[in-house]
Amino acid sequence: MKDSNSEFQTALGENAKQVTDMLDALMPLTDTPEARVVDAMRYASLAGGKRVRPFLVTQSAALFGVDSTSALRAAAAVEMVHCYSLVHDDLPAMDNDDLRRGQPTCHIKFDEATAILAGDALLTKAFEVLAAPQTHSDARVRADLVLALAKAAGDHGMVGGQMMDLWAEQNDLNVAQITRLQRMKTGDLIAVSAEAGAILGKASEEARSALHAYAHDIGLAFQIADDLLDVEGDAALVGKATGKDADANKATFVSLLGVDKARQQAAMLSEQAAGHLEMFGEKADLLKELARFIVERRA
Ligand code: IPE
Ligand code: IPE
Ligand code: MG
Ligand code: MG
Ligand code: MG
Repeated sequence: MKDSNSEFQTALGENAKQVTDMLDALMPLTDTPEARVVDAMRYASLAGGKRVRPFLVTQSAALFGVDSTSALRAAAAVEMVHCYSLVHDDLPAMDNDDLRRGQPTCHIKFDEATAILAGDALLTKAFEVLAAPQTHSDARVRADLVLALAKAAGDHGMVGGQMMDLWAEQNDLNVAQITRLQRMKTGDLIAVSAEAGAILGKASEEARSALHAYAHDIGLAFQIADDLLDVEGDAALVGKATGKDADANKATFVSLLGVDKARQQAAMLSEQAAGHLEMFGEKADLLKELARFIVERRA
């Protein structure tokens, strides 16, 4: 009998390696005076990470027969934005964390100024990669990718969510407000990852919105799982400190609903997510498996 979980783990691992090779190639070492910022960019992006967002890009691209260079370049761009968000999230002015992916955070390994610059450069590099002709022969497709990623990463997306996340340390939020915060902070980058394949593949509006609906659900489930890991996870496994949200008095699904209800909510979203992929049949099996992995993960 085919073991769908081990097939999924293998696919996730192989994709992670390909994405890391692409990131490595896109950020070559230099011996010029600015080398330190490149070293910090590479430090923050080459080692570790589950590489969930790049997996979403390449798996959604595979649904539409997109060539692998295009898919991997878009996947690397999304991972650059994610890694930048982690570098800045860990800064003393934000979550003030020392450990990330099992290693000292970027500002601990280098220094704060370098970490800020490395984050800035990773963000900018992502758009350089998407806009470059090697990513797709059609300039319209490249512009669509740039627009979608910019929207997901900026004040209407991840950055806006991070702002609300700080606000949530001082204010009581209800479920609707937390949902909006988490969809922006985490869900939007996950949603654009899944949509990227549809953009690259010039998919129908119907296919693109099915992927969006899927990612909308797993994005929220992903952050609920992250908040659960902050409460019940093993720091050695998750590779970052736990118990931080409660220490910061941060409103999360877990603080609001409790562990059991939050877990039920994540499981419900994961199942609902898989349901949105019916139109793709078996071709979307790994994406369905990913929805399950996101809520069952231990790291
Ligand atoms: C952590 O993201 C930050 C959140 C948005 C919850 P991941 O759990 O994807 O972190 P890595 O990339 O695997 O380290
Ligand atoms: C961070 O959320 C989300 C980002 C946009 C970076 P968290 O602050 O909960 O992520 P971790 O727990 O530090 O990875
Ligand atoms: Mg944070
Ligand atoms: Mg954090
Ligand atoms: Mg967290």
